[in-house]
Amino acid sequence: MQITESISRTRAMVRAAREQGKHIGFVPTMGALHVGHLSLIEAAKAACDFVVVSIFVNPTQFGPAEDLASYPRPFEQDCALCKEQGVDLVFAPTPEKMYGTADPVTWVTVERLTDHLCGAARPGHFRGVTTVCTKLFNIVLPDMAFFGQKDAQQVLVIQRMVADLYMPLTIHICPTIRESDGLAVSSRNQYLNAEQRSQATCLYRALQTCQTLVTEGSRDVEPLIAAMTKVLNEAAHGGIEYVNISDVQTLEPLARIKDRALVALAVHLGPARLIDNILIDVSES
Ligand code: PAF
Repeated sequence: MQITESISRTRAMVRAAREQGKHIGFVPTMGALHVGHLSLIEAAKAACDFVVVSIFVNPTQFGPAEDLASYPRPFEQDCALCKEQGVDLVFAPTPEKMYGTADPVTWVTVERLTDHLCGAARPGHFRGVTTVCTKLFNIVLPDMAFFGQKDAQQVLVIQRMVADLYMPLTIHICPTIRESDGLAVSSRNQYLNAEQRSQATCLYRALQTCQTLVTEGSRDVEPLIAAMTKVLNEAAHGGIEYVNISDVQTLEPLARIKDRALVALAVHLGPARLIDNILIDVSES
């Protein structure tokens, strides 16, 4: 496995692999790799012949009061995990390599979809994500890139950007990986102390409550949101950022579930901001 911060070296290695007829799989990450990332790498290994993982804590997707400085950066450990997983190349650029030293003037933005959910609470976040993903896609030129469904809005925004800008790659979405008690695996879970860690199961419990009510026939969104809010408030004591049931394409809030819906939550627990979601489909019932 090669590790490089160089854009030209990354391009040269990918070009050489492509010349050998290899399909290029790409897993963009901010490091602090966990089993969720490993499942993306596994999917990339299964579908492609040459797998690139990027490790880059992207400054432009963090707000001024967010955790850019404290975001975990266990680089050696991440590289060891990538090697164990059979990754071919780790691309780990510096912020200067990705953005230069002046304030960026070129941005890629996806509108409307980014007004809702996490975008409403984190202005500029998705502009940072779409800009860095465009840069990474242009450097790596992958055939397929792998993202986790846990970041449902990110997935939707990136899929839309790739489609609208005719970017020549396929986005592959992998299922959310959960701990045995249902908590979605996330790099930010390590911010939780023992009490907050046990409270954090409220996100998945709230989502399950919604799923159960829908299975029993509930379709109106207001009581579903009320039921989820109750579960969250019992554990998260007012730390709710949003509880939404949205259209899966536009992310506009729904009043009633007719076919497919995205049920999404964001909750603050101590220093951690946790998100989770499920997709609900009542079209067959
Ligand atoms: O999901 C993440 O880890 C980041 O948002 C991504 C896609 C690597 C862009 O920085």
